[in-house]
Amino acid sequence: MSISTYNGAAIIAMSGKDCVAIGCDLRLGIQNQTLATDFKKVYKIHDRLYLGLAGLATDALTLNQRFQFKHNMYKLREERNMNPATFAHMVSKTLYEKRFGPYFVEPVIAGIDDDGTPYITGMDSLGAMETSKDFMVAGTAPNSLWGVCESFYRPNLGPEELFETISQCLLSGVDRDALSGWGAVVYVIAKDKSFVKTLKGRMD
Ligand SMILES: *[C@@H]1O[C@H](CO)[C@@H](O)[C@H](O)[C@H]1NC(C)=O
Repeated sequence: MSISTYNGAAIIAMSGKDCVAIGCDLRLGIQNQTLATDFKKVYKIHDRLYLGLAGLATDALTLNQRFQFKHNMYKLREERNMNPATFAHMVSKTLYEKRFGPYFVEPVIAGIDDDGTPYITGMDSLGAMETSKDFMVAGTAPNSLWGVCESFYRPNLGPEELFETISQCLLSGVDRDALSGWGAVVYVIAKDKSFVKTLKGRMD
C-alpha cells in the first residue's frame, strides 16, 4: 500500500481563453472503503486563485491551513493578493523544506493574473514544479485523466466550454479508478464571471 493512494483523489486543472478551471472528485476513503462523498480537494486562496491537493487527506488539510496562513501574512504585508506564480513558488518552497520527511500531497494550482492570463502548475510531494499551458492532473487516476484530457482538450475555450470539457474529462477519468469519483466539483475562474458547479457522478 502506498501512502499517496490511501485516501484516493482526482484533480484536473485546465486553461482556456482568459480563464482557468479546476475540478476534483468528492470521495474520501480508507483504501477500498468509502467514508465520505463530500470531501472537496480544491481550496480557495482568493477570488482568482485555487489550490488542489491530492494525496494523503490529513496532510492536505494541514497544508491548506499553512497556505491560508502564509497568504494572509503576505496580504497584511503587501496589501494585495498573491499572484498565481508567486503562490506556486511559495507552495514549492514549503514542500521542499520537508525534503527528507515530506507531506504526501500532489498540489495543482490554477489561477489568473490581473490581466486574465491563465496560470496552471502541478508539482510532486517534494515541490518539483511543472507549469503547463493546457492542463494538469493529479491523484490516483493520473493515466486515465491524462488520456481523456489529451483527447478532449482544445485551446482558447471560453468559460462555459471549458467547464463542459473539464467536467467530461473528470467524470470519464474517475470511472477507470476505484479510489476516486462519487461526484465532482468544478470551479471556473474568469475575470468577470467565475462559477462553481457540483457534478453528479456514478456512485459505484
Ligand atoms: C482493493 O481493491 C482492489 C481492486 O478491486 C484489490 O486489488 C485490492 O486487493 C483491494 N485492497 C484491499 C486492501 O482490500
